[in-house]
Amino acid sequence: MKFNILTLFPDMFPGPLNHSISGKALDNKKYSIKAYDIRNFSGTSNKSVDDTPFGGGAGMVMRADVLDKALNFVKNKNEGIHTASIYLTPSGEKLDQKMIKRIVKYDNLILLCGRYEGVDQRFLDHNQIKEVSIGDYILAGGEIAAFVLIEACIRLIPDVLGNNKSLINESFEDYLLEHPHYTKPAIWNNIKVPDVLRSGNHKMIAEWRKKESLKKTKKVRPDLLKLYNSSKD
Ligand SMILES: C[S@@+](CC[C@H](N)C(=O)[O-])C[C@H]1O[C@@H](n2cnc3c(N)ncnc32)[C@H](O)[C@@H]1O
Repeated sequence: MKFNILTLFPDMFPGPLNHSISGKALDNKKYSIKAYDIRNFSGTSNKSVDDTPFGGGAGMVMRADVLDKALNFVKNKNEGIHTASIYLTPSGEKLDQKMIKRIVKYDNLILLCGRYEGVDQRFLDHNQIKEVSIGDYILAGGEIAAFVLIEACIRLIPDVLGNNKSLINESFEDYLLEHPHYTKPAIWNNIKVPDVLRSGNHKMIAEWRKKESLKKTKKVRPDLLKLYNSSKD
């Protein structure tokens, strides 16, 4: 998979992706990442990319003409590759594991990271760019949101995780949150690991984990439990 980032801060990349599982996968060429500086497409001597909003109000808006040049440059470089273009924005569709699974089907992603008040809507509509939010809060820019999306994708690329089975029982598979985990020592701070996990009885362990998974989902994410129950109807 190839990630192309349109940003005002290209030096932020690959940043945290250079570490741990995503760092190793990058070294092993399981994916590639290239950041493009939007300012290089400004066409003005002061490299300006934004202007005041029509209708008034606070802040600045990133210009459609500048963004369009940047997007077309990256598209031309990747002609013939199965590509999706995404703008990270708090007013987009909320990212979840299901959406990540759809996104990893593309070979090439173009991720636009906004700054200021956001971007001119005409650019998004004209280029049919998908708007994606990483949650109901406001970040200063789209770069951190892009990191979130990219890392979630990288984990799903075949052979990136040491053990592909890790993906099977994770939270959000089947709408449920994952059961709690325990490791050695068996007694810590006078608190024992649940006996069943040391019983060696795999059927009982699986039942216990399912029960705990349901209990936790009911407590912290009743919305997901509803979806789980209706998927069983
Ligand atoms: C200060 S925010 C703009 C917020 C915008 N005026 C609004 O109220 O929706 C600047 C940039 O940060 C990014 N951003 C902020 N919060 C985000 C979120 N929850 N998910 C994805 N991107 C986000 C977007 O790229 C956005 O263009």
